[in-house]
Formats: sequence, structure tokens, C-alpha cells
Amino acid sequence: MAQLWGGRFTKETDQLVYNFNASISFDQKFYKQDIRGSIAHVTMLAASGILTEAERDQIIDGLNSILTDVKNGTLEITSKYEDIHSFVEANLIDRIGDTGKKLHTGRSRNDQVALDMKLYVRDEIVEIKALVLELMNTLHSLMKEHIHTYMPGFTHLQKAQPITLAHHFGAYMEMFKRDYGRLCDIYARMNYCPLGSGALAGTTYPLDRKLTASLLDFAGPTLNSMDSVADRDYCIELLSALSTIMMHLSRFSEEIIIWNTNEYQFVELDDAYSTGSSIMPQKKNPDIAELVRGKTGRVYGALTSLLTTMKGIPLAYNKDMQEDKEFTFDAIDTVKGCIALFNGMIKTMTVNKDRMEASAKNGFTNATDAADYLVNHGVPFRDAHGIVGELVLACIERNISLDELPLDDYKAICPVFEDDIYQAISMEECVNKRNTIGAPGPEAMNKIIEINEAYLKDL
Ligand code: ARG
Repeated sequence: MAQLWGGRFTKETDQLVYNFNASISFDQKFYKQDIRGSIAHVTMLAASGILTEAERDQIIDGLNSILTDVKNGTLEITSKYEDIHSFVEANLIDRIGDTGKKLHTGRSRNDQVALDMKLYVRDEIVEIKALVLELMNTLHSLMKEHIHTYMPGFTHLQKAQPITLAHHFGAYMEMFKRDYGRLCDIYARMNYCPLGSGALAGTTYPLDRKLTASLLDFAGPTLNSMDSVADRDYCIELLSALSTIMMHLSRFSEEIIIWNTNEYQFVELDDAYSTGSSIMPQKKNPDIAELVRGKTGRVYGALTSLLTTMKGIPLAYNKDMQEDKEFTFDAIDTVKGCIALFNGMIKTMTVNKDRMEASAKNGFTNATDAADYLVNHGVPFRDAHGIVGELVLACIERNISLDELPLDDYKAICPVFEDDIYQAISMEECVNKRNTIGAPGPEAMNKIIEINEAYLKDL
């Protein structure tokens, strides 16, 4: 047991209590951030005349040597220390002696951990943004490739109207654009430095909090020392944004699982992204998509956990807040893994254009267009809807599509129909004529692809 405190105690901590209280097993994850924060802190202490320049340099050299040794594996972070802060400080004192004892001047572990967590989350947001960007780039290329790949669009998982695969991918593109924007917003809102807030009430040393903030690339210092050590909103916001990313990936995964079934065969997942069965030799399962869908629950769990942990905590710091870490770390790692794998999976899957087009053709997805044909010939829409309903029924009875129904049968139900009905309800016409902003027609799609191209270039 190596602790930073103990002076006012007359007994050793019970071993079980020590283990229960310790956080080193997980907060060692941010040793780099802890050292970076300490270097900024002593730089500011020297600039404010609280430490000499010689003391500052000695401490910084010591901290950098710890960083190097941990990175190259010569110094192991062990459970002998209560947390990462104790580990760094104890090692510093071992290395440079008494000057190391000055590191913690004007600082508490409460503002230190608030800083470390912020630095860690901030670094991770940058990495997650890069992964979302990669996924958006994949979708962008797929959209360009599939402007003329016809498929049925669904509502209630029933065939509704024909669309294109570019349009379907485009829907997810919009979702990931919003996800990306959310990550940027969170970054900007959280980007204020809590260091210098002390335990809860600031300090009597003349700390230059603006300097610390700028040394650590924050937009400025936080403005209330109690809030600084008690705020975990940014973790909750991040977990919420991550939950939304997972919700999107999960819906997409669900569709890919359906498209990859033997019944649909819209896509075929690459062998490298599929798994087999130990008993059924014929099986090729979409486990990656299923795992992404499954892991969504785990990320939602992290959000619910932290919201629940925070809801009853009085100001300012309370040890409950140590529970922010494991769930947040796990959610971040889970989401990063899921985005990367999902990206690889859709990049390598084969699209079966013929199956998609055939499926769009045989499900009466052009019924609305048949009704629109009548409307264009002066029939009120509600009447047209009824007439086409009758036509669909006639087709179902004969097991044919609207394209195959003879003109006489059309005319028998409504004499307005002429030979040009077949052109009006052809797949190409149904899709190509839909060119309102955001619709699947090629003209409309090309405009969106242009907008996305500019958006992606700008990021
Ligand atoms: N391990 C603690 C946490 O994660 C660090 C802060 C401890 N502060 C304290 N006063 N006990 O929240």
C-alpha cells in the first residue's frame, strides 16, 4: 500500500478497504494525461513564482523519465499504489528526492482527476471523430457507386416505393454527419480546464489558471471551482453521443443481417467478415453485424450507469465519481472497435444489384406511381388510390406485377389508362423522376453527393 495520506491515521487501512477504494487498476489508462497535467502545473507554479526554475526543471525531467519508462515497459504500474496520481508522485520522489514533494503544491487529486479525465476524453473524441470520418468516406464512395442500383424502400419492413442503394446509404450518411457534429459540439463545450480549482474552493497560492489552461490547449479555465471538480456532464454527453452512434450502427447492422439472409440475398458479406458454425457446414454467419448490434446495449448501459451514479451526489467531489471511469473507458473502446469493424464489413461486402432490382420490381413498389399517372390525367388522388388498389388485387390473383398486366385489364377498371402507363411505372421512371431535395432520383442524389463531397473535404 503506497498512499499520499496517512498522517492523521493511527491504523493501517484494512486490505479489503484498500482494494475496494483503489482505482489504479483502471486509471493507469491515463498515465500520459496525468504526467502532461503535472508538467503544465509545475510550469505554471514556476511562472507564478511558487517554484524556482531549477525545481521546475528537475520535476519536469523526473516526470518525463517516468513517462519514457512506462512507455517502454521498464517501469510497471502496479497495484502497490492507490491510483495513478500516487504512482506518479511516489515515483517522482523516488527519482528526484525532496523536490518531488513540491509537485502537488496548490493542487488536489480532485482537480487533478477532473483534468486527467477531461484530457483523456478529449483525446478520445479526436480518435472517434477520425473513425466516424473514415466510415463517412466509405459511405460516400458507396453512394457514388450505387446511384443507379435500384432496390425496394421499406416501411413496416414491407416493400413501399423503389429507391436506390445510394439513397439508402445516404440516409446513414446523414446520421453519421450528425454524430460527427455532436462530437465536435461536446469537444467545444467541455474544453475548459479545471486544474487550479483545488479540492473544491480554489487555493490561496497565486495560481495562474489561464496559463495552465493555455499550456494544456484549453479554451480557458473553468469558472467555478466546485463545479470544476464535480462536473462529469461531458462524460455523460459523450456517452449519449456514443449511444446514438451505436444506435445508428445497430440499425444498419440489422439491415445488413436481413439483406445477407438467404431469403433476401441483397448483399453477401466477405468471408473475412463472416464466421462459420461448428456443426452446420453450410453456415456463413454475420457475427460482426450481430456483435455490433449486441454491444449497443453495453454502451447504453454505460450512459445509464453514469447518469444514475451522478444523480444523487451533493457538491462538490464525492468518491462515487470514481465510478465514471470504467464504464466510460469501456464504452469508448467498444465504440471505436465497432466503427472500425463495421467500416471494414461494408467496404468488403458484395452488392447483388440484380436481386435488389428484381425485389423492387415484384412488390408493387410502383403502385404509387400508377396512381400518380391517373392524377396527372385529371383523376383525383383518392379515386386513383382506389383504382390502383383494385389493379393490385387483380395482379395478386394472377400472380403478376403491374408491369405485366395487359392494357385491356387496366382499361376495364379505368379507361383513362393508355399505353404510356408502362413507361410511367417502369423502375427507371419511378426513381429517376423523384428529384425533390433529398429524394432518390439521380439528379437529386448527385446534388447531395456534391454537398457531402464539400462537407468531407472541409473536416
Ligand atoms: N481515484 C479518484 C477518482 O477517480 C481520484 C480522486 C480522489 N480524490 C480524493 N479526494 N479521494 O475519482
